[in-house]
Amino acid sequence: MLKILVPLFASAVLAANVYAADPVTIKFSHVVAENTPKGQAALKFKELAEKKLPDLVKIEVFPNSQLFSDGKEMEALLLGDVQIIAPSLSKFDRFSKQVQVFDLPFIFKDPEAVDRFQSSADGQALLKSMEKKGILGLAYWHNGMKQLSANKPILLPDSVKGLKFRIQPSAALEAEIKALGASPQKMAFSEVYQALQTGVVDGQQNAWSNIYSKKFYEAQNTILETNHGVVDYMVVVNPAFWNKLQPNVRDGLNSAMSEATTYGNALASIKNMEARSKIVAANKAKVVALNKEQLGPLEGKNAASVEAI
Ligand code: LMR
Repeated sequence: MLKILVPLFASAVLAANVYAADPVTIKFSHVVAENTPKGQAALKFKELAEKKLPDLVKIEVFPNSQLFSDGKEMEALLLGDVQIIAPSLSKFDRFSKQVQVFDLPFIFKDPEAVDRFQSSADGQALLKSMEKKGILGLAYWHNGMKQLSANKPILLPDSVKGLKFRIQPSAALEAEIKALGASPQKMAFSEVYQALQTGVVDGQQNAWSNIYSKKFYEAQNTILETNHGVVDYMVVVNPAFWNKLQPNVRDGLNSAMSEATTYGNALASIKNMEARSKIVAANKAKVVALNKEQLGPLEGKNAASVEAI
């Protein structure tokens, strides 16, 4: 009798354990405010993933560099201390020169052109181009086109000469700013506001939603509406973590990511236009729209950036 009971008891315990297994905790760290395209898309991913995979996953979102700031977040992903991050496409310099195609000035005239490239075979291939280095792209998320600001009245090209501009850690962006006769200063996103306030740097470039949500406009005199590049993101995981997940969990997370991507990308232009309107209404930094001739000098700097990558 005992011979029958023991295996039955063992399988009952096993079944109970399987059903009682703790949910997989997935930490999602990013560096921007919640009320931005990336901040909202991350929260939508959490909502959808936990709905699709009840009791199987727990998504913890950490905005505003709360868990890891720039640079640290990539190391944390490689070490398994965080499971999902969504760095700007300008932050993969150490892993891929190809991804810096997004940093070339004026290579994309608007977010629609960025979207077409990201959806293309070449764009999709970039998502997997760093997999052997421990970085697997799940999706691209949009923010918006970049504007150039400084703590004094500026126009292109002469009045930016000699100024210090904060940039993201990209060789292409470094070359772009140097080609304008200005000085590029690589710096973590969380340090930019104070650096602008104290004059450590004179200016910066970013999408309207970041310029507004981090109050950069309060420390700037002029914002040139250049639309000269894009701030977009690659949502990435460590393949060592990702490939160990149960197939049904991975499928559910992919489905949630796809829906969150559609949601966030639809929100991006709205959030950026709202941010631009609020900056103009605040009447602190002067927003200057540029015409073709005025944009010429920056447009002509493409070659230097192409050389850099
Ligand atoms: C920056 O560092 O300027 C941006 O990448 C921040 C962000 O993630 O939007």
